Amino acid sequence: MSLRARSQIRLLEKYVYLDNASAGPLPEPVVARVGEFVREWEKKGEPWEEGIHGIEGVRRLFAKMVNAKPDEVACFPGVTYGLGIILSSLPLRKGNVIVGDHNFPTSIFLARSLQARGLVKDVRTVKLSEAEEAIDDETALVMIDYVGWLSGEVADLRALAEEAHKHGALLVVDAFHAAGVMPIDVKGLEVDVLVTGSYKWLMSIHGAAVAYIREELVNSLEPVFAGWLSVEDSVVARMLRGEPEFSRPIDTSRLELLKGARKLEPGTLPLLSFVALEEALKFVLDNDALGHYPHTWKLAEKIAEEAEALGLEVYTPRKRHAAIVSLRLKDPMRIAEALERRKIRVAARPGLIRVSPHFYNSKEDVEIFAEGLRGALRESL
Ligand SMILES: Cc1ncc(COP(=O)(O)O)c(C=O)c1O
Repeated sequence: MSLRARSQIRLLEKYVYLDNASAGPLPEPVVARVGEFVREWEKKGEPWEEGIHGIEGVRRLFAKMVNAKPDEVACFPGVTYGLGIILSSLPLRKGNVIVGDHNFPTSIFLARSLQARGLVKDVRTVKLSEAEEAIDDETALVMIDYVGWLSGEVADLRALAEEAHKHGALLVVDAFHAAGVMPIDVKGLEVDVLVTGSYKWLMSIHGAAVAYIREELVNSLEPVFAGWLSVEDSVVARMLRGEPEFSRPIDTSRLELLKGARKLEPGTLPLLSFVALEEALKFVLDNDALGHYPHTWKLAEKIAEEAEALGLEVYTPRKRHAAIVSLRLKDPMRIAEALERRKIRVAARPGLIRVSPHFYNSKEDVEIFAEGLRGALRESL
C-alpha cells in the first residue's frame, strides 16, 4: 500500500472505498489536469495540440503497461465502442462465437449483433471453466473477460489463446477488471485483442478506452468506416510528423489508411478524457500499482475470509479471483445502504455485494469493512 498515493486521493478522507470495479476514485493529479485543460480552453481557446499529445501519451503508456508497441494500440471513447469497431473490422471466418457466461453483457450483445447481421453462425455462452473445451474447428472468435465483473474469476488467457489459435480462431479479451490492478503481458499471453477502459482500475474519468491489437492482425483489419483522422495524410498525422496541419488541402480523391492501430480512429476523440487518462496512467504506473498486486490480492482474500467468518457465502471462487470478491446476500441493496451510512463504499448487484479493493487500500480498510458488515447484518435482522 502506498501512503503517498493514498494522500493524493481525496475521496479516501471520507470513505473506505472498496468499489473500484464500478469506478475508481480520482487522484488529485487527474483532477488538476482536467481543470487545467478546461481553463486553458476558456482563456486561450481549444487546447487541440495538448489533447492530441495526450492521446499519444496514453498510447505509449498503455503499450508500456501491457508489453505492446504503441502502433498496436488503438484509442476509443469507451470499451463498448472500441470492441464494436474492432469486431466489425475483423477478418471473420463464418463460424461460431464463444462467450464466457462471466462476461459483462456488452461483449455478449456485440456477439449477438454479429450473428444478427449474418457475420457469424452462432453465439455459444459457456462457463469459463468449459471455454477451452468448447473451442473447435467451427469457432471463429472467442470473447472472454479477463476477470469476471461479478465473479472476480480470472481467465487462463494463455491456455485459451493456444486452443483458439490451434483451431484458427481469434481471442478477444475485455480486461476492464484487470488493467491497472494486475500485471498484463499481452505477448506472453498471446491474446489477439485486449481492451480496457479509463474509469475503473485506471482511476480516470469516462470517455476513454484503449485496445491492444496484435501487429499482424492490425495489418489485416478492414475498418468499416474511415474518417478525416484515419488516413495516412490526416492533419493529426501531419502534426505528429512536425508539419503544419493545414498548409495544403486534404486529398479526398483516394483512401489511404494510416498504418497501425490508429486506422481504427476515424474522428476526434474526447480529448479531455485522454489527457485525464494520461495523468491517471502515470499515477498508476509511478505508484507501482501493478507491483502491489500481491498486496491487493491478499486484501481480496481477507475480505472473503472475513465474510466466511460472518457465515456468508462467498460467490467468488477462492484463490482463482483477482481484486473482486462478491458475497451472496438476500438484500444487497439494504446492506450496501447500511455500509454507505458508515462511509464504506461497495456495490450492490442482484443477490450480491461486490467488494473490490485496489493497491491503495490497506488491511485496516478491510477490518473497518468487516466491522461495518457485521453491524449492517445485525441491523437487517
Ligand atoms: C467488463 C466490462 N466491459 C465493458 C463495460 C462497459 O464499458 P463502457 O461503458 O466503456 O462501454 C463494463 C462496465 O462496467 C465492464 O465491466
